[in-house]
Amino acid sequence: MSYYEQNRTAFLETLKEFLRIPSISTLPEHKPDIRRAAEFLVEQLRGAGLASAELIEGPGNPLVYAEWLGAPGKPTLLLYGHYDVQPADPLEEWKSPPFEPDIRDNNIYARGACDDKGQTLILVKAVEGLLKTRGDLPVNVKFLVEGEEEAGGEHITHYVKQKPPRLASDAAVVCDTEMFAPELPTICVGLRGIVYSELHVEGAGHDLHSGVYGGAAPNPIQAIAEILSRLKDRQGRIKIPGFTDRIRPPSDKEKAAWERLPFNEKKYRKEMGARKLVGEPGYTVFERLWARPTLEVHGIRGGFTGEGAKTVIPARAVAKISMRLVADQQPDEAIEQFKTAVAKACPKSVRAEVKILHVGAPSLTDPDNPFIRAAAQALTEKFGQQTVFTRSGGSIPIVGVFQQNLGIPSVLMGFGLPDDNLHAPNEKFHLPNFYRGIETAARFLEIVGA
Ligand code: BES
Ligand code: ZN
Repeated sequence: MSYYEQNRTAFLETLKEFLRIPSISTLPEHKPDIRRAAEFLVEQLRGAGLASAELIEGPGNPLVYAEWLGAPGKPTLLLYGHYDVQPADPLEEWKSPPFEPDIRDNNIYARGACDDKGQTLILVKAVEGLLKTRGDLPVNVKFLVEGEEEAGGEHITHYVKQKPPRLASDAAVVCDTEMFAPELPTICVGLRGIVYSELHVEGAGHDLHSGVYGGAAPNPIQAIAEILSRLKDRQGRIKIPGFTDRIRPPSDKEKAAWERLPFNEKKYRKEMGARKLVGEPGYTVFERLWARPTLEVHGIRGGFTGEGAKTVIPARAVAKISMRLVADQQPDEAIEQFKTAVAKACPKSVRAEVKILHVGAPSLTDPDNPFIRAAAQALTEKFGQQTVFTRSGGSIPIVGVFQQNLGIPSVLMGFGLPDDNLHAPNEKFHLPNFYRGIETAARFLEIVGA
């Protein structure tokens, strides 16, 4: 039995311990848990044989750093993950408490199980196994794990932009994406970027009786609805002037590869529980998900939302709006275009202000590089199926930051499954993928070193 087979129970116990820490980066009251999760990782890395493991302090949550540089002449890989998680609400929809990991049907259920604690631990345990069994690694590695990916990644972005010499590497490895289907090994070569904003709208100076003032008073929630409906039409086309000008369409070859993916639109719709799919006419589902931008409203706060009726015209309201961007859209330009379009669409009776919460650039990696080839080989060996190349509609802003500042491509080798409920109640990680992920990552390091 290999080290990896022998230690499955121990790996699982470690994962459970990690998952019990509610390291939610978007809620300030969880700061102590964030620190605990970071320290937990430092300990894990030291236990794996990386004595150099330490915290890097800075603006925002601590980064976890560790390096092993005992393979001179061999490539150096920057192993990335995030120890923070999304909030767990709505709590009542969880079948088991989000921070008390529960195993059902070979899946471990907990917030962060897949995104990204389970997948971050894959890299740690892969390195641990190699160090414990060979006494060395086939390549040099540098771990860089952040604690605010879900909140915009301020600290890591700031750090990487300084181009610290210790980060010099040949490629980054990111286990934070999904497989296209169970058993189908997948490398993600494109991610969307993101601009996350709040639209603050003010009408009257204070709330007003809707009978006494209705008909004369401005209504900020109505204004938000009007603004939104001008930014995107009923077909799903974004109407912000200039917004789509820079989009680089996928090549015919890439589109043909997407056509070959095992996909049933009806099944997909049913999984979603939706009556009908939406989106821009003239584009396939994958183009709409991976190669076209979005504009989504996530929530509108304002007015009266309690039980029963209250006849009020609210004085103010806020909408949370994000845009996902695709190559070669530029976040700064998209923000300007968005602000201009909002100003133009805003009824004169109210005042609107856009606040940007966080920003990430899109990324697109040429799959024809030796690191991606090595990953595809390791995946194919361990899963017994040809690796497919997809993109993802999600965002991992650091991938673009690595490319721009360190000049390195990222290998996005993900072990999540499409039904892992990322960011939703009952998030899970399929345990066979956890164990196989560890072995695949180790094999990948061997192939790169060979
Ligand atoms: N792991 C996800 C991104 C992801 C999910 C990629 C599924 C591919 C498939 C990541 O943790 C995430 O959720 N990112 C945020 C980024 C944002 C908050 C800056 C996202 O995409 O919303
Ligand atoms: Zn993630």
